[in-house]
Amino acid sequence: MEMVEIDGQTAVCGLIGNPVEHTMSPVIHNTLAALENRKLVYVPFPVEEGGLKSAVEGARALNILGLNITVPYKREVLSFLSDVDETAQRIGAVNTLVRNRDGYRGYNTDMTGLYRALCAENISLKGESVLLLGAGGAARAVAFMCALHEAAELYILNRTAHTAERLAEEVNRAAGRVCAYALPVGDWNRLPQRSFLAIQATSVGLSPHTEEAVIDDPLFYGKIHTGFDLIYRPSETRFMSLVRQSGGRAYNGLKMLLYQGIIAYELWNRVSVTDRDALKVFRRMKEAMGMTV
Ligand code: ATR
Repeated sequence: MEMVEIDGQTAVCGLIGNPVEHTMSPVIHNTLAALENRKLVYVPFPVEEGGLKSAVEGARALNILGLNITVPYKREVLSFLSDVDETAQRIGAVNTLVRNRDGYRGYNTDMTGLYRALCAENISLKGESVLLLGAGGAARAVAFMCALHEAAELYILNRTAHTAERLAEEVNRAAGRVCAYALPVGDWNRLPQRSFLAIQATSVGLSPHTEEAVIDDPLFYGKIHTGFDLIYRPSETRFMSLVRQSGGRAYNGLKMLLYQGIIAYELWNRVSVTDRDALKVFRRMKEAMGMTV
């Protein structure tokens, strides 16, 4: 696969964050551009603290087609947009900017990306009992997605109980029904007798702290039929191992990363990426991460 030659018509997209050195997004977008023979390049832009407003304005002035936004700017960027998608507004975080007449419109493709990743693994949310670990930025996207796609119930477990309670209230308000409940992590044994789809959305277990999991007790993992960890470094987290040891299926967050990128690319270029191309990009990502393909 040849990279596309840069000429006077090449569009530029990129990633704003800090740090951005280890990002996988250029692999996703430049591979897609090469597969589609599209005149587009994607580059990382490290932006120093205090520089976000001028970065977004500068991007606009430079005719940059689209941007991804990563840590620590997913919330702050909301102030510098011409328009924000309703779901992204609810989540309170934007990871994708799409150029429009007045500036950029913000989206949250982390949420839609996770949904597409679940679909790709044949994991359904409708009528499901979901258990969510965490109530931070990433968990908020998961919680609203569960309500949107009609999970029957959502138990939010968090170290800081009041953050989980606030999130459950927001989700119930947005859903117009009571489906979300909060619990402090230590009270997991108060969960109802169910078999859960569990989504791990805390930062615990992230490389280099690969030996950590929020909960260690095998009895907890006995309640889980499927575990989905948003973490993809390492590719097998301790949470995933514990789910598997108790007989459940387990997935890491690499497909969510793939699809959040694919959805951003689709928004920028007004195209649909085929499953075949998605699979090719996924292979390239695994190669780039040094994983066996
Ligand atoms: P992100 O954007 O990755 O979601 P975040 O908003 O800082 O990051 O959220 C991190 C999540 O991981 C939170 O749910 C946090 O729990 P608290 O709300 O109690 O801080 C959770 N978390 C981080 N370190 C943790 C730990 N050692 N044990 C349990 N939960 C932890």
